[in-house]
Amino acid sequence: MSAPFGPGDRALLLDQRGRRYLVRLQSGGTFHSHAGTLAHDELLGRSEGTAVETTGGMRLVAFRPRLADDVLKMPRGAQVIYPKDLGPILIEADVFPGARVLEAGTGSGALTIALARAIGPTGRLVSYEVRDEHRERAAANVAAVLGAIPPQLELRAGDLRDVAATGERFDRCLLDVPEPWTVLDAVAAALEPGGVLGSYLPTAGQVQHLVGALPEAGFWHLETSETLRRSWHVGARSVRPEHRMVGHTGFLTIARRLG
Ligand SMILES: C[S@@+](CC[C@H](N)C(=O)[O-])C[C@H]1O[C@@H](n2cnc3c(N)ncnc32)[C@H](O)[C@@H]1O
Repeated sequence: MSAPFGPGDRALLLDQRGRRYLVRLQSGGTFHSHAGTLAHDELLGRSEGTAVETTGGMRLVAFRPRLADDVLKMPRGAQVIYPKDLGPILIEADVFPGARVLEAGTGSGALTIALARAIGPTGRLVSYEVRDEHRERAAANVAAVLGAIPPQLELRAGDLRDVAATGERFDRCLLDVPEPWTVLDAVAAALEPGGVLGSYLPTAGQVQHLVGALPEAGFWHLETSETLRRSWHVGARSVRPEHRMVGHTGFLTIARRLG
């Protein structure tokens, strides 16, 4: 990761106004912008943090993208979970290196990538997706961000409820599906006692429905929260919150599987 840029690497180009451009570097390749072009060769062999200029005089600094940059930039089929929510999900659902994690639906793969990184090569992540076009998009996103589909990840075509027939057991389960109460029996059968379920939902009505169904399905210690993130403008003359913020994304409900 700390090596100089090479062919095939992705580079995030940041301009003076904070605009971001994600490019895959190729020998002889060209980046086109409203302010002229930049030859990829100017970055190949150079370290991150290098400053370059387009033919039209736009100054750019190049870094490898962070996961948060990738999630905001990657092509979407389904709506992704934003970086501000990915962090709390990993901590509140207690996803640890080596964990066996069940996920649905894969969607565009944003949470899948965060989970695969968090569990590492000693873990196992099985992610179900009912829609083929979403699974294919997610597979392409995972491969683009992580370099390949990592060995700890299995992208499965089908409904999460199919997991019941496999007899597999998991330590953690993360749901980003619109009707999680319909899959609770399958999740309860697959989760070890004490296992953590995290469900991400956009509306209060869905949360109320889920929380009403969880105790009967064998879950306890319920917590629901949302995360608000307010960015700040910090300049020489004024330090204040940004005028705009993302007002709402989703609620996270956490529950523990009873023994
Ligand atoms: C909002 S998207 C998930 C986005 C994903 N968390 C991400 O960060 O990119 C919801 C996905 O769940 C899938 N889905 C809905 N119900 C499902 C089920 N019972 N089993 C598997 N996938 C399901 C949908 O097809 C859709 O792609």
